[in-house]
Amino acid sequence: MLSESPLAAAWTRLADLAARPDSRDIRALFAADPERARRFSVSFEDLTLDLSKSAIDGEALVALLDLAHVADLDGFRTRLFAGEVVNPTEGRAAMHMALRSAADAGMRAALPGGVDEASRLAAAERDKMRDFVRKVHDGELRGCTGQTFDTVLNIGIGGSDLGPRMAVDALTLAGTPRLRARFLSNVDGHAFAALAQELDPARTLVLVASKTFTTLETMTNAHAVRDWMVAKLGDGAVGAQFGALSTNLKAVGEFGIRPDHVFGFRDWVGGRYSVWSPIGLPVALAAGWEAFQAFLDGGAAMDAHFRDTPFAANLPVLLALTGIWHIDLLGLRTHCVLAYDERLRRFPAYLQQLEMESNGKSVMLDGHPAARATCPVVFGEPGTDAQHSFMQLVHQGTQAVPVDFVFAAVPDHDRPEAHRILVANALAQSEALLRGKTRAEAEAEMRAKGMPETEIARIAPHRAFSGNRPSNTIMFRHLDGYALGRLIALYEHKVAVQGWLWQIDSFDQWGVELGKVLAGGIIPDLSAGPKPGAHDGSTEALIRRFRTLRGEG
Ligand code: F6P
Repeated sequence: MLSESPLAAAWTRLADLAARPDSRDIRALFAADPERARRFSVSFEDLTLDLSKSAIDGEALVALLDLAHVADLDGFRTRLFAGEVVNPTEGRAAMHMALRSAADAGMRAALPGGVDEASRLAAAERDKMRDFVRKVHDGELRGCTGQTFDTVLNIGIGGSDLGPRMAVDALTLAGTPRLRARFLSNVDGHAFAALAQELDPARTLVLVASKTFTTLETMTNAHAVRDWMVAKLGDGAVGAQFGALSTNLKAVGEFGIRPDHVFGFRDWVGGRYSVWSPIGLPVALAAGWEAFQAFLDGGAAMDAHFRDTPFAANLPVLLALTGIWHIDLLGLRTHCVLAYDERLRRFPAYLQQLEMESNGKSVMLDGHPAARATCPVVFGEPGTDAQHSFMQLVHQGTQAVPVDFVFAAVPDHDRPEAHRILVANALAQSEALLRGKTRAEAEAEMRAKGMPETEIARIAPHRAFSGNRPSNTIMFRHLDGYALGRLIALYEHKVAVQGWLWQIDSFDQWGVELGKVLAGGIIPDLSAGPKPGAHDGSTEALIRRFRTLRGEG
């Protein structure tokens, strides 16, 4: 009989552990181990990751760490930081860590015919950005009518929108921004129509943010904003008030943007990892250079932790392994993120791209179908709002949904009671998910209120909670640039670790291509009518109906 490979054996061992009758009984794990909270919590500086409310026990953790070792996670991590090609389907490195490294950190990134001095290149671009930010803040750079800027309008989508939008909220929502930031991502004309109401064209600095500078939505919006501005202010507005953040410097030049308003980066920066690059310029403009630099420093600190810490104490690795346990061993295929911080209201949207565009794959690096489930469906909302919408399902639905609770201990407002109420709600949600409520408890509550026994019997099943529903908690002292940088880099590395354990390419995104191509074919059909046989029956009928409703067909 052929013996299993070490990797297959590691997965089999995990499957055996997950098949134990009590493998989902988190309450029993606490009862059996009074030290569980301490033993399943890890910290990096003031950031604590509490995994104890997940369904992992000591044996499972050892087996998960063993999986990481036999899958050569160490080798992957070394190749990632060495700037080797870890995105083989696009032949690219994933060297976003260089963007937050010091100029002399020496990080390099493989290129098709050579190597980039990534740390040095990033630092040089950062110097240009800092100078630009200073000039805008000091009023040295002005619009074409001589007025200072009061708003930066970022035109971009996906990674060229979600990162900066999330970080601007996180760092400025509760304070006074240095410059107001607005974001135009959707190609829906209503999005720009709404923004045009509130923008003063003479005081708006426009940044066209696109790694490729070819994305249809972004280029359509960029032309719309350019036309609007030129109509209001004349041709001089483009030179004075437009900037670009891109790897495609040729296309940027053709658009007519002044070279000294152009900030570049390289292909070894994936779109969803680009907030640390010039794509983060709106963050620096809105929150100030110091906050942006602190954000980079926080990311760099998490990089060092991820690179240098043994797996058993490594936050991204442990967060990733907990996810693997839930997804692949317990079959939980959704993941909820609840940041109890209004300033992190865009964090779930940001994570959706990071996690689902990275790991929403069903083919492995060797071209074979994925051997096991990969990325879960990720969703979330700020707490406490979520409690009044979908948390019903998370508590009592037919499927368990692992949750990440995220919050800061110290707020940036002066209403401590409000913050205690907020955090009490986060803790109460995770406690409720763990503890649940037995039918007997529900009955006793109703009896204490004097309800008749027939009513108690009828209602009690609806008021019981199974409990034993897993969650993680991430807590840190205070949400500032540094804390945000650590948090984002924590999830970036978690995603990379999971992708590696699933043996998929976490850094490509071929799944977005087909829709783009088909949209290109449908656009002319919406004006001229569908070409017979060009589409499936439904799409063809919908195009006809669309034209009829518009009185065109
Ligand atoms: O959605 C696909 C994608 O390529 C993302 O990966 C990327 O962040 C987004 O489009 C925007 O691309 P670009 O920055 O090139 O306009």
